[in-house]
Amino acid sequence: ELLKKLPEALIPWYRENARELPWRKDREPYHIWLSEIMLQQTRVEAVKDYYHRFLKKLPRIEDLARCDEADLLKLWEGLGYYNRARNLQKSAKMIVFENNGVFPSEYSEILRLPGIGEYTAGAIASNCFDEPVAAVDGNVLRVISRIIEMYDDILKPATKKYVKAKLEKVYPKKDCGDFTQSLMELGAIVCVPSGPPKCKLCPAEAFCLAHQHGTEAELPVKEKK
Ligand code: ADE
Repeated sequence: ELLKKLPEALIPWYRENARELPWRKDREPYHIWLSEIMLQQTRVEAVKDYYHRFLKKLPRIEDLARCDEADLLKLWEGLGYYNRARNLQKSAKMIVFENNGVFPSEYSEILRLPGIGEYTAGAIASNCFDEPVAAVDGNVLRVISRIIEMYDDILKPATKKYVKAKLEKVYPKKDCGDFTQSLMELGAIVCVPSGPPKCKLCPAEAFCLAHQHGTEAELPVKEKK
């Protein structure tokens, strides 16, 4: 299968070319979790400042569990979607008061925390615990749609499920986090959503079907309804 070559193509590329981002400095679940929640609603450049400010005020998950909601919302001010902040604290309380402060280390357990869906759980499990679980967001759907030249509507939940399963068949034995990050990075800086993709810079150029057939601009398909 086409995607079999993906980890060996993307991981070295990622290590050479990745942007240095604050949440890529360590594999602390609290850090990865916080960054992914912030990144769901806000651009990378803006998240950097919020992320630093948040962790300066609440450096450990215990601090988040115990802080006043008013202080929490103040830290979140400007990010919007305040339920995300409330769920963050709800989860932190569960981890601190019901699990001895230990972040759950398995995808299925991580997924049970409030505010954590398949994407965020996959990002945490692969980055922090080296589990072969995909984190499929819009970036990843675009990258995969193009590589396998898939015309399925990426707004349909079934498409995301399909792509997740397909990716998990080729997840590497180790470096799962780097593979997850490499897919996001490729979508963010090479296989971009608007304007032509930068295929000359792409480590998957040689086997990308959309590139071979010149269909990059048609993909991904977003039908909505
Ligand atoms: N967008 C969502 N998650 C990201 C991450 N970990 N790095 C960069 N961009 C992202």
